[in-house]
Amino acid sequence: MGNESSSNVVDEKTHPSVLEKRTIEAVAKYVLEKDVRRIVVMVGAGISTSAGIPDFRSPDTGIYSNLAYLDLPDPEAVFDISFFRENPKPFYTLAREIAPGRYRPTIAHSFIKLLYDKGRLLKHFSQNIDCLERLAGVPGEMIVEAHGSFATQRCIDCKADYPGDQMKAAIAAGEVPHCQQCNGLVKPDIVFFGEALPSDFFDSRDLPEQADLCIVMGTSLTVQPFASLPQFCRDGVPRVLINMERVGGLGSRPDDVLVLGDCDTGVRRLARALGWEEELEALWEATNLPEECGAQTAEATPLRTREEKLQEEVERLTEEVDRTLGISQEYEKRVRQQLGGPVAGTADRADRTNPANNSESSHAGETSTDRLAHVFPHLARTTREGRPEKA
Ligand code: OAD
Repeated sequence: MGNESSSNVVDEKTHPSVLEKRTIEAVAKYVLEKDVRRIVVMVGAGISTSAGIPDFRSPDTGIYSNLAYLDLPDPEAVFDISFFRENPKPFYTLAREIAPGRYRPTIAHSFIKLLYDKGRLLKHFSQNIDCLERLAGVPGEMIVEAHGSFATQRCIDCKADYPGDQMKAAIAAGEVPHCQQCNGLVKPDIVFFGEALPSDFFDSRDLPEQADLCIVMGTSLTVQPFASLPQFCRDGVPRVLINMERVGGLGSRPDDVLVLGDCDTGVRRLARALGWEEELEALWEATNLPEECGAQTAEATPLRTREEKLQEEVERLTEEVDRTLGISQEYEKRVRQQLGGPVAGTADRADRTNPANNSESSHAGETSTDRLAHVFPHLARTTREGRPEKA
């Protein structure tokens, strides 16, 4: 996270009109002294990265940098409704990884719950589809899930609801669910590119204008119309950005405060300045058990590490490849037998049992992960310094 000087680097020349200084401590003082009770929070994927869910646009680690294996025309196609109609499989392959049920809320999520408990939250605007605010205990009516969520699902044609337990099973298996009424494609109620935002978003759009503090966290503010929300706050209303980088023109108003760095450190600093640190840590501690997320029941399974999840995905794909190869070799063998020719597939397999003839012998000692490293760049072995190694 950025230190005090880096968090104020853009701000030094302009004197604030409402805050004493453009610091997080001055924001805390403002909240307590003015008894600020109408706080709007606006967040994106960056508040969930420390839970193990990658964001979208960070270079190297973001979801969009790691979708080569899905063979998409462009990364955002995985959330594009026209593309989904043609080919829903990539979305369901990704959904296995990002669907709720396995991730614990971060301390940033618990900070939003704390604002609610203190009666200071006017509305929480989230672009996230991971339901972690709900898991942290923020009531559904306080949250605008601007890009929808995994909590419910329906047919994209006849709009019929689809059972949550069957959706959960389909996602776990990486399978595409079909409508029980018209056989159309079923999709979680996530807002894809090309779809309208929920009416809840438009109904709540005037709330930033009523706010007396705005906190923006973990978003690149690149996707409209969400990205415009902070602009609706009145002049003179402090806006705090807690993010790895400066985004969306925040910092340009006299009472904007930039806290550049990771969200968890930023909210801990704010909580400490408010004298709420212990309460925040206690709230976060209480999130340590998987609970329910909307209509979907999270299994009481231990949370898995990213490596474990990736390893499982590789094993599943390796089995799929092996099964497909087995089927095609068997088919080729049958065709050749019927034509009376040599059975190449069998010979090839037999030859491969002899290391001298085995074209893969140079790969001895490799794991399935290594063999698939060219399609899963993020799975490549790490170097001793922890950097990904080229396959
Ligand atoms: P992005 O990936 O575009 O932006 C995440 C922001 O959070 C970046 O500015 C990161 O630098 C920052 N960040 C990452 N980790 C952080 C951390 N631990 N602490 C602080 N900052 C951190 O994600 P969004 O802005 O949420 O739409 O993306 C908006 C929409 O684009 C998403 O809702 C999604 C995507 O296409 C749909 O799925 C429909």
